[in-house]
Amino acid sequence: MADPVAVHYANDEKLADVIAERLRLAGKNLDHLTTADLATVDEFHIRGRKATIELGEQMKLADDSLVLDIGSGLGGPARTLAETYGCHVTGIDLTQAFCDAAETMSKWVKLGDRVTFQQGDATALPFADDRFDAAMTIHVGMNIPTKDKMYEEARRVLKPGAVFAVYDVLQGEGGEVHFPVPWAREPSISHLAIPEEMVSLLTEAGFTVFDIRDSTSESQSWFEAMTERMAKSGPPPVTFQAFLGSDFPEMMRNMVRNLAERRIKTVSYFCVA
Ligand SMILES: C[S@@+](CC[C@H](N)C(=O)[O-])C[C@H]1O[C@@H](n2cnc3c(N)ncnc32)[C@H](O)[C@@H]1O
Repeated sequence: MADPVAVHYANDEKLADVIAERLRLAGKNLDHLTTADLATVDEFHIRGRKATIELGEQMKLADDSLVLDIGSGLGGPARTLAETYGCHVTGIDLTQAFCDAAETMSKWVKLGDRVTFQQGDATALPFADDRFDAAMTIHVGMNIPTKDKMYEEARRVLKPGAVFAVYDVLQGEGGEVHFPVPWAREPSISHLAIPEEMVSLLTEAGFTVFDIRDSTSESQSWFEAMTERMAKSGPPPVTFQAFLGSDFPEMMRNMVRNLAERRIKTVSYFCVA
């Protein structure tokens, strides 16, 4: 039976075709696409590409670095790091449809030789010990109840001294989340950590946390600016609606509310293996 989390994210359509069609309708030439053309759909997390770069800055990347992106989605963050630092990135994601689309979209922007994607579970990584020079995970833990296993697996596949960057949505002090949200239409697949448990989870997995950044206020402003922009000039050619479907606008409204009422927080943790 299909995993309910993968069912939440994927629909029956071939996602790369849907995205290509929307870009074509907006007048984009698919032979000359840039990663910026894709950023409104393939950086599937709050604060978009800027947040990915913030993680990359802490990861000490060089052009020969091999990076793991755990829960890589449509591959935007992996492509951003590959393009910015020249490194190689392997993405792993539970949702096969996202991995397929990520492979296709990487070819569109001529990064197919530096990023690869495969289907797999963050809590049982199909990689040898000590394989990667750095790893990141962006907005994934909130779908995973066994975060201890997820972080233990990340530690196992990282070389000693490698940086692990975790950017996630956490439970805030403001009360229960308003659903639907982009990672869950109802509570059964939403597993938000509370800020107080994150450091112990990471430490128990064998990491040393060297920096913590709470970006909740910035996330709230980012969502408010985005919804204002969309109300004024309409949505960009392609958005998360391509795969989240018709309840996407309601999800956006709930995100503004959840952030404003501090029902959720966005926090990044930077650790060394
Ligand atoms: C909100 S998206 C974020 C995607 C990507 N990190 C980004 O920021 O663009 C969450 C992703 O986590 C993936 N995911 C959820 N549970 C997972 C698991 N147990 N193992 C691997 N990926 C998982 C989903 O399939 C989805 O692609």
